[in-house]
Amino acid sequence: MNNKDLAIQNYKRFCGLEGNEYIASEFALETIVKIINTFKIDTILELGLGIGSICDTVLKYSKKNNKNISYVGTESNEFCLSQLKENIIDYNKIELYSELNQIKNKKFDLIIIDGYDDSLKKIIAYCNKNTIVFIEGDRKGQTESLMQIFPRCKYVNVITLNKNRAYSHGYNNTDHYVGGGKLIFINPTFIMQLFWFQQKTATFIKNKIRIYREK
Ligand SMILES: C[S@@+](CC[C@H](N)C(=O)[O-])C[C@H]1O[C@@H](n2cnc3c(N)ncnc32)[C@H](O)[C@@H]1O
Repeated sequence: MNNKDLAIQNYKRFCGLEGNEYIASEFALETIVKIINTFKIDTILELGLGIGSICDTVLKYSKKNNKNISYVGTESNEFCLSQLKENIIDYNKIELYSELNQIKNKKFDLIIIDGYDDSLKKIIAYCNKNTIVFIEGDRKGQTESLMQIFPRCKYVNVITLNKNRAYSHGYNNTDHYVGGGKLIFINPTFIMQLFWFQQKTATFIKNKIRIYREK
């Protein structure tokens, strides 16, 4: 099984679990795994673990590829905390905090934001020189905040041409496209700039195809 199939299979698993309404999209899981694989990400912070679809997918990816990834996450909701124990196969591998302020002296290669409702200024303390931030879904306000916080960043909206499937989570409508995400390279290396350009081009073409399909 390749990494993309791993993400899709795990997404399907989470669609069948209690509390699936707010999980990350299939495309978000695929994108996160691709980023981790491309940029050799070792340390991850996820703000708002929810019921664990992203975290469990990443830990499965790391096990399959024999990689040692440090996964730190925040979650404070009682229901989610109980579900995380059930849903994350390698639950003992995550470092879990109820609030971001409790995490001390750690920097992360990748920060994933999915539904976090606190000030994003706090994340500056957790970024290393070339941290990548992934915001799940279409959260314009959070994206704009990050662009102000990191004025040298490069940003791309990543989208897919796939539509929701019958198995998709939440109030899915099979006429709607699967949700995407925002990728922010706070201080991109040359390789990150190339990747960013590739993604920008892909999004441009996909948007044109979406418009063409609507005609
Ligand atoms: C959309 S859900 C995350 C879903 C998760 N990515 C998944 O796929 O299962 C957002 C989560 O963030 C948590 N959250 C929001 N703001 C938070 C905060 N300030 N501190 C800790 N957790 C927070 C909520 O409790 C909720 O479970």
